[in-house]
Amino acid sequence: MSRPGLFITFEGIDGAGKSSHIEGLAEAFRTQGRAVTVSREPGGTPLAEKLRELVLNDAMDALTESLLIFAARRDHLRNVIEPALARGDVVLCDRFTDATFAYQGAGRGFDLEVLSNLERMAQTGLAPDASLMREPDLTVWFDLAPDVAAQRLSTARVPDRFESQPAEFFARVARGYADRAAAAPQRFARIDAAQERHKVWQQLTSVFVRRGWLAIMVATQGGPR
Ligand code: TYD
Repeated sequence: MSRPGLFITFEGIDGAGKSSHIEGLAEAFRTQGRAVTVSREPGGTPLAEKLRELVLNDAMDALTESLLIFAARRDHLRNVIEPALARGDVVLCDRFTDATFAYQGAGRGFDLEVLSNLERMAQTGLAPDASLMREPDLTVWFDLAPDVAAQRLSTARVPDRFESQPAEFFARVARGYADRAAAAPQRFARIDAAQERHKVWQQLTSVFVRRGWLAIMVATQGGPR
């Protein structure tokens, strides 16, 4: 009997350090025999990657930005996420709709009701049950104070349109994530991203062990390199 797919998303402000842990988790799931699809948003398909380039580099108003992001999301859902879930894969996605509520909604101050409407349009009519709006089974939220995140980013690569925003923007984005987590506590797992890397890994894997999705042995052996 094939196992049901799992849709897991990873969120947090830029600099929270989520990306390095996603590969470690993919490895842990593969070690225990599960097929894993790793992807990211905006992006994950040829069309969505083109839209990502536009969103991260070209100036545009918040509605245009939101429309492009949800267009990319629908293409990603149709062509990558839904087929992977139908095969029974574990789908690990670096950012998803919570990022839109945090960045475009809280960060840019765009209308949350419009975002909710776009969410419904873009994420419905795809899953086996067409009336269902596809949402993550679990969202791992790497919570980090904006000033710590900014410090970590200052030594990193050339910033994109979002990474170059001022501190107040990231303070709003962080509050946006906190609001989303408070509104759906059963879907969110909060990770204290200020901890040392191996502690973050421990806390992260314990979330999956508790849900019965990872065996303790597999969880403790792995970890980001
Ligand atoms: P990110 O996923 O952090 O990739 P990288 O590590 O390569 O920078 O970058 C994507 C950026 O896009 C990030 O700054 C957040 C932003 N973003 C939004 O503004 N809205 C969204 O819905 C998503 C998915 C991302």
